[in-house]
Amino acid sequence: MKAELLYEGKAKKVYRREGTTDQLVLSYKNDATAFNGKRKASFEGKGRLNNEISSRIFTFLHKQGIETHFIERLNETEQIVRQTEIVPLEVVVRNLATGSITQRLGIEEKTLFAPPIVELFYKDDDLNDPLINDQHALFLSSVTEQELREIKEEALKINGVLTDLFQSINLRLVDFKLEFGRLACGSIVLSDEISPDTCRLWDLNTEEKMDKDVFRQGTGDLLEVYNVILQRLEDIS
Ligand code: C5P
Repeated sequence: MKAELLYEGKAKKVYRREGTTDQLVLSYKNDATAFNGKRKASFEGKGRLNNEISSRIFTFLHKQGIETHFIERLNETEQIVRQTEIVPLEVVVRNLATGSITQRLGIEEKTLFAPPIVELFYKDDDLNDPLINDQHALFLSSVTEQELREIKEEALKINGVLTDLFQSINLRLVDFKLEFGRLACGSIVLSDEISPDTCRLWDLNTEEKMDKDVFRQGTGDLLEVYNVILQRLEDIS
C-alpha cells in the first residue's frame, strides 16, 4: 500500500501510495513533542487517536464544502491524502487569548478576540517558526497576494465551522493551527492534520484543557483527554 518514505516529521511519516503518482499515505506516530522538539515523549495509541480524530474532522469539513487533501482513512494509524506541495506557513486562528500571543503581546489570558485573530508563522524548525507578516509570507512562499487573502479567508471559514462542531460536543475551540498545500493542478487546499495536537480545546463547562497543553504543561493525561475528544466526535457521527 505504501512505497518509499518521502518525509518524516515530528508527528507523522509521509509515504508515496504504491501505484499512484499523486497520493500519499500519512502515518501517524505515537510521538509527542513540544517547544519545537525540546520536550519529547511517546504515548502508545496517540497515533491511532489523532488519525481517527483528524479523519473525522476532515470528513466533516468536506461535507461543509471545504476543499482538503484528505481522501480516506486507511487503517488505525494511516490515512490516504492527495499529494500537495506544502506552503511553508503555519496559519493560526485565535478566538481566545492564551499561549504565545499572551506572552508576545502582553494580552491577558482568556481575552476574547472578536473578530478572531489570524497569525502567520514561517514553518522552519531551525528558526523556531517565527511570526511573520503578509509581505514576509509572499517573499518566503510561492503564494500570490490573492492566494494569501484566500488562505486567510478559508482559515476564518474553517474557524466558524469548527467552532460550531466543537461547541456541539461541549468544547470551546480556543485556537488552532492550519497548513495549506498546493495540488499538482495549482490550487491550494487545506492539508496536514487537525487534532488535539494542533488545536486548543477547553471543556465548555469546566474549562479543563483537552489538548496537547496537558503534555506541554504536564498537567494531565494526554491519552485520556484525546480519548474523550474522539468519543465525543463519535457520539455525533
Ligand atoms: O503556541 P501558540 O499559542 O502560538 O499556538 C497556537 C495554536 O497553534 C495552538 O493551538 C497550538 O497547538 C498550535 N500550534 C501547532 N503547531 C505549532 C505551533 C502552534 O499546532 N508548531
